[in-house]
Amino acid sequence: MIQTLEWTEQGVRFIDQTKLPTEETYVVCKTDEQVAEVIRTMVVRGAPAIGVAAAMGIALGMKNSHAQRVGELKQELDLICDNMGKTRPTAVNLFWAIRRMQEKFERLRVRPVAQIKQELIEEAKRMHAEDIAANQAMGRHGATLMPSEGGVLTHCNAGALATAGYGTALGVIRAAVEAGKKIHVYADETRPFLQGSRLTAWELMKDGIPTTVISDNMAGAIMKQGKIGAIVVGADRIAANGDVANKIGTYTVAVLAKENGIPFYVAAPISTVDLACPDGSKIPIEQRNAREVSHIAGKQMVPDGVSIENPAFDVTPAKYVTAIITERGIARAPFEESLSKLAGTESKVQV
Ligand code: MRU
Repeated sequence: MIQTLEWTEQGVRFIDQTKLPTEETYVVCKTDEQVAEVIRTMVVRGAPAIGVAAAMGIALGMKNSHAQRVGELKQELDLICDNMGKTRPTAVNLFWAIRRMQEKFERLRVRPVAQIKQELIEEAKRMHAEDIAANQAMGRHGATLMPSEGGVLTHCNAGALATAGYGTALGVIRAAVEAGKKIHVYADETRPFLQGSRLTAWELMKDGIPTTVISDNMAGAIMKQGKIGAIVVGADRIAANGDVANKIGTYTVAVLAKENGIPFYVAAPISTVDLACPDGSKIPIEQRNAREVSHIAGKQMVPDGVSIENPAFDVTPAKYVTAIITERGIARAPFEESLSKLAGTESKVQV
C-alpha cells in the first residue's frame, strides 16, 4: 500500500510527489513549519492529503512546544494554525482540518498540557485512519456507477497519493475493479504540474489497472470515438449548490462529457463540501508560479517576457455534474438539498 503520509516517532513522513514517478523518495518533517512548506511546494498535495498533513503538522507543533501553561500552548496553536492556513487557499479540507484541531483543543482546555499534546496527536492519527475508511466507503458507493467494462477517464490525481490512502476518484475505480469490472483508465496528463501522467499513472500501474495517458487536449476526441463510458474526478471544494472546484481543466472535461452524453461523476469526502459557500463564484482560486507553465523539466518553453496565467483550479457548474459520490452516499441534483442532507447525517464510516 502506498504510504502518502505517516506519523512516525521521528516526525511526519511524506512520499515526495515532486519526484515521482522516476524517484520514490521520502521527506521527514520535524517541525510544523516544515510541514507547511511541503504543503506549499506540493511535496504533498490533493485536498484530503493536505487536510491530514495540516492536522499532523499542528500535532507536531504542539508536541515540540515548551509551553508550561494551557494559555501559552493555545497562543502557539493559533500561530501554527494561522501559518498552516496560508499554504494553499482552494482545498477546503485544509481549513476543515485546522478547525477540527482547534475544536479538539477547546474541548481539552481543562486538561494538563502533556495530555492535550498527546490527545492532539491521537486526533491527527484518527483523521488519517478516517480518511482511508471514507475513501473505501466512497469506493463501495461509486463502484455501482462505473460501467462493467470499458474506458473511464479521470483528470489530475485523486488517488492514494491525494489522500491518506486508496483515493477518492481512483478509490471508486479501484473498488469497481475489485468488484470484477473490466475498467481501462484514461488519465489526462494534467498540465502544468502533470499529476495525471506522473502520479495517477504511477499508482494505477502499481496496482496493475490498465491505464492510458493522454495529453489534456486529446480528451474530447477520445470521448467522441466512444472510448469513454464514464468520467470520475475528485474535488477541492464543493459549494452548497453543487458547483465543484477541482484541478484546472476539469471544467473543460465536464463540458465535453455533456456534449458527448457521458456521465460526469465527482468523488469527494463530506469534508470537501463547504455548505458555507453558496456557489462556485465564492471559491478562492489559487494562482501558482508562472514557471510551472513556462518551463517543463527545467527547460524554458515560451519566449522571454511573454505573459502567463496559472490558475491551479477551475469551477465546474453543478449543471454538468451527474452525481457527487461521498462516503455517506450519492448526491444528485438538486444538490442544495442532497448535499445538505448528507452533510447533516452522522458518519456511518467504520474506522
Ligand atoms: O494542486 P493539487 O495537486 O493539490 O490538486 C489536486 C486536485 O485537484 C484533486 O483532484 C483534488 O484535490 C481531489 S484529491 C482526492
